[in-house]
Amino acid sequence: MTEPLAFIRANAMLQAPPLVPEIRLHLASEVLPLWYKTEAELGREGVPPPYWAFAWAGGQALARYILDRGQSHKLPGASVLDFGSGSGLVAIAAAKAGAKSVLAADIDPFAAAAIRQNAIDNGVTIEVTTDDVIGRAGPWDVILIGDMCYERPLAERLTAWLKERARAGTAVLIGDPGRTYFPTSGVEKLATYNVPTSRELEDRDMRETSVYQLTA
Ligand SMILES: C[S@@+](CC[C@H](N)C(=O)[O-])C[C@H]1O[C@@H](n2cnc3c(N)ncnc32)[C@H](O)[C@@H]1O
Repeated sequence: MTEPLAFIRANAMLQAPPLVPEIRLHLASEVLPLWYKTEAELGREGVPPPYWAFAWAGGQALARYILDRGQSHKLPGASVLDFGSGSGLVAIAAAKAGAKSVLAADIDPFAAAAIRQNAIDNGVTIEVTTDDVIGRAGPWDVILIGDMCYERPLAERLTAWLKERARAGTAVLIGDPGRTYFPTSGVEKLATYNVPTSRELEDRDMRETSVYQLTA
């Protein structure tokens, strides 16, 4: 097996997501061929999809929001967690918005390698973990969530923990394009964007996507 970083460099191209042109990421255009290649690379089937190779609509909206309006949520100087970081888009945006420290958490080792490389390519410092941090108190002032409500067990576990963190005083910001398991209550809408997407990924060219704050 080649190193995850060599795999990423061979199969993704450095390019800017449409809504966040100031950040460049290693991205791919088609999910299925890359998924098959990942399985071949690891020599097994049933591996998670290569989410790290796409800038999801929720992440794009959240990154745009914190770059433009992060000050309203005290991002400058904050200790930040980007949970389910994927490509690292939201974590990189938080670092660019002036966060004191940023931890990008993603359980996929390919995502961890992509985040590290994308951080270097954007000239920012980000810590990366493949631990599942759900349930931890952590030192975070702000928790950022880009497009994580696509699967019921994960969304339920995540939402319960985020509500607990919000009650403890952490600002929790979520970017979501109306995924099935997005919480229907306890959220305040902050902004809405039309995010250009690919038909291959989302079955449409544009997704209306909002940024929310979780209310305690
Ligand atoms: C749809 S992608 C979103 C990526 C990024 N936030 C964005 O908006 O572009 C979901 C990501 O969550 C990660 N993930 C899934 N379960 C996780 C968990 N328990 N802890 C951390 N990351 C997780 C996946 O590996 C994947 O990279």
